[in-house]
Amino acid sequence: MQLSGKTAIVTGGNSGIGEAIARTLAESGAAVVIDYVARPADTADLVKDITAAGGTAVGVEADVSRTDGIQSLIDAAVREFGGLDVMVNNAGIEKRQSLLETDEESFETVIAVDLKSAFFGTQLAAKQFIGQGRGGVVVNVSSVHEDWPMPGNIAYCVAKGGMRMLTRTAGVELGPQNVRVVNVAPGAVATPINTKTLEDPEQRKKLEDAIPLRKVADPSAIADAVLFVASDAGHYLTATTVFVDGGIMQASVGL
Ligand code: BGC
Repeated sequence: MQLSGKTAIVTGGNSGIGEAIARTLAESGAAVVIDYVARPADTADLVKDITAAGGTAVGVEADVSRTDGIQSLIDAAVREFGGLDVMVNNAGIEKRQSLLETDEESFETVIAVDLKSAFFGTQLAAKQFIGQGRGGVVVNVSSVHEDWPMPGNIAYCVAKGGMRMLTRTAGVELGPQNVRVVNVAPGAVATPINTKTLEDPEQRKKLEDAIPLRKVADPSAIADAVLFVASDAGHYLTATTVFVDGGIMQASVGL
């Protein structure tokens, strides 16, 4: 298996894309640490499921918008599984507000959950990797909106644009220490973040018509790309972005 003997942290790992990543990495042999703030029961069920399928996972209560929350996940990886090899900074939220609608509190929340968590997740994982002396991989789950405006969702775009330069700059800084940093950028995916769009038949059709592959992605499509990036198959990827978007970015505007 591609990740046998490795340990991975997946932030936002108890729902949506994060859940698919946690399952896929565990199926590939990694021991997985999953954070939760709310929904401890969902996390316990997911851990039970992964374990029943022959995998290894643990749930840890941690707020990844704070550095102490991120550090507690790394400490759990070291305590439970002896170290850390893969850090997936996946936690993310969006508020769907325009520039003129966005107040200070909602801006700060989006930036803290989406960008600050990835920034310090990258930093603290890199310190752990360097201390262990065997390198490591950071996968930052961004979005097509790291590069592509989504009118009406501006704080999210600002956060994802920040992740774009986080990954490029950290990848350049950390390459000589054998630490890779890569963004995986999903397009439209069937997850709770998109429930409103997907439950409205007209909106869903508009979105699917805008995607060259004509369908919203299953979260497993993103998880497969994360596995590729995190495993030895992705050994020459760093300081860049892998877009997994069915072609949407080349075709129209964000929906
Ligand atoms: C956003 C979705 C949006 C999709 C495609 C994602 O990053 O979270 O709300 O539908 O990009 O524009």
